[in-house]
Amino acid sequence: MKKVKVIATAAAYPEQVVTNDDLAKIVDTSDEWISQRTGIKERRISSGENTSVFVIETARKLLERAEVSAEEIDLIIVASVTPDYGTPSLACMVQKALGTKNAVCFDIVAACSGFMFALSTADKFIKAGKYRNAIVIGGETLSKIVDWSDRSTCVLFGDGAGGAYIEETDEGGLLRENIGTEGECYEILTEGYTRCANAFNDIESYQDPRWYVFMNGREVFKFATKKVIQSIRQVLDEEGLQAEDIRYFIPHQANARIVEVIAKKLNVPFDRFEMNMERFGNTSSASIPIALNELNEKGLLERGDKIMLSGFGGDMTWATVLIEW
Ligand code: UT7
Repeated sequence: MKKVKVIATAAAYPEQVVTNDDLAKIVDTSDEWISQRTGIKERRISSGENTSVFVIETARKLLERAEVSAEEIDLIIVASVTPDYGTPSLACMVQKALGTKNAVCFDIVAACSGFMFALSTADKFIKAGKYRNAIVIGGETLSKIVDWSDRSTCVLFGDGAGGAYIEETDEGGLLRENIGTEGECYEILTEGYTRCANAFNDIESYQDPRWYVFMNGREVFKFATKKVIQSIRQVLDEEGLQAEDIRYFIPHQANARIVEVIAKKLNVPFDRFEMNMERFGNTSSASIPIALNELNEKGLLERGDKIMLSGFGGDMTWATVLIEW
């Protein structure tokens, strides 16, 4: 069977840095509470750029780094819960901006696991022989759907995009995955609800508070620790590997305490978990590819390294993908 390898990574995010102290000026919070409960110190927040700006910039860098032309791209999948439009998709906005005229382009929604679901989808298209390569990106401007008066959520999120260029290969690559959903729990974490109001029923109540992020943080915490641990164990078992065979674990960057629990239960030293939520907060679908790109840009990844990407989030979803670099 064909294999699929990550050839290049990239990321793009806003220049504006918002610190915990900045947030303490607008809601009743403190650097101490946010740092201790989440590990987040600062995040990048859009100064008006929409999600497509970061997604297109990421795709542009991927073409450069992979040294492929726009015309050579077969498939573009973008994962986002905060696209610019309902239609067009972010992927089609990339197509227009970069001239990837031979690519098939679409978006998917799987909340914070979105990049992983997109990666898994692209992997299957390539393994089936349909396409030779793909650009896969997770990108968000969560700042536009956060309630900036709700301290329990607004301190957690950040904006940005990250992605990978993947292509058909003979060895290594995406080795194994475990992805899943528990839709019956979707009310734990919601955002972006649009009310079915129109000129003939209830135009006055077009705005709905469910537009903003709502989250039962404790339930997400429980879901995340349980599912990520199960999912990583399953991938290790199926691949006949031990946790010590993994060079880096790249978890979804939601909360350092969640990562601590996962590391402890898996009996893996905490420092083998790549973490950047201190500087980016939780960027949902962008968090894992931004972290992967940071490792890659620092030159810390060597061909043959085994890297475990593992995310969780709204819907409720989880996704683990084992990569041989
Ligand atoms: O991408 C996936 C999505 N999200 C997640 O992964 C989030 C998972 N959950 C979490 O990370 C944690 O549950 C949170 C960080 C969201 C919350 O931490 P917690 O330890 O579960 O705190 P809590 O919700 O139980 O709240 C504890 C207290 C409450 O006050 P009382 O009732 O004890 O008086 C909250 O009102 O902390 C209060 N609180 C705050 N205080 C200062 C909540 N948010 C803040 C805040 N600053 N920003």
